[in-house]
Amino acid sequence: MRKTSAKASAPAKIILFGEHFVVYGSHAIMTAINRRIHVAVFLNKTQTINITSNMGIIGSYTDSKFNLIKGGKNTKEILDPVYKSAIDVLSERKQNLGIDINVVSEVPHGVGLGSSAACCVATVAAVDSLFHKPDKQWVCSKAVESERLVHKDSSGGDCYISTFGGLIYYSKIKGFKTIETTRDLSLIIVNTGIKHRTGDLVSSVKKFKNDNTSLFKDLSSYADNICQDALTAINIGDEKKLGKLMNENYTLLQQIRVSHKKHDQIAKICFKNGALGVKPTGAGGGGSMIVLILKEDKIKLTSEIERNSYECIPVKIDYDGLVVY
Ligand code: MEV
Repeated sequence: MRKTSAKASAPAKIILFGEHFVVYGSHAIMTAINRRIHVAVFLNKTQTINITSNMGIIGSYTDSKFNLIKGGKNTKEILDPVYKSAIDVLSERKQNLGIDINVVSEVPHGVGLGSSAACCVATVAAVDSLFHKPDKQWVCSKAVESERLVHKDSSGGDCYISTFGGLIYYSKIKGFKTIETTRDLSLIIVNTGIKHRTGDLVSSVKKFKNDNTSLFKDLSSYADNICQDALTAINIGDEKKLGKLMNENYTLLQQIRVSHKKHDQIAKICFKNGALGVKPTGAGGGGSMIVLILKEDKIKLTSEIERNSYECIPVKIDYDGLVVY
């Protein structure tokens, strides 16, 4: 045992291109953002894992039996991946200990910004650092296993970006490459206010794929080409092209039916106010959208979106990824 308490934090993410198709082997382009989940862990003298979150929920696990202390009917579903992250590390390190886990999130839950994955990454790292200095690759692979409770077909991308940070070109099969760019992408996140369950959307896309095998194959290869072109556009700083590719990616998401009428309403406002590109990010079905806009038009667009009662979240790329204190 190295210490009796530890802290870690991991960033949320946005998917710029390729969500859903990435589950079936296509590429995705993702970036970590400057909003974090902070996890603090403290050994306790029982054999219970107690989890408290600033989302106003509290739960406790004794011999893997869940006891709801505060929260609604989805509390267990939200806390189970955190519990699994902790218990898997304890069992790997052959420790039968009780731990208090305190989660503080700067990220809205269930809106496509990767809060579950970031929470798993930070929990695995904080618990592991009680015993030794965590290895990022190991933390990431453990977090992916826990995130599979959220949806069993996870591409792993959300955990990778949260662990390693920056801007990445990711494939479930080939792993990830860091995209080196000195240019900051001028993006806005818009929260539709509609919460989604990633697992349900991934299942609905799986059904669409099984019912439309050859169409899905074509759409996947189109999605992969968009990612390759987007990589080039990022590298040469061609924002116009990047925006056009985002719009093309949006139509693919409409075709696999993860779009929502709020997306169209928001897109309309954005295009009227000079957006270069707009698309849903993450699982879709509501959640969040991302908008690419010239720096000089950003303030005007933000106030127009807010005037229409949608929350705007300013974004900066996070280059740190997982941080263990
Ligand atoms: C969810 O943030 C992204 C999806 O592509 C699922 C995944 O990659 O595991 C919808």
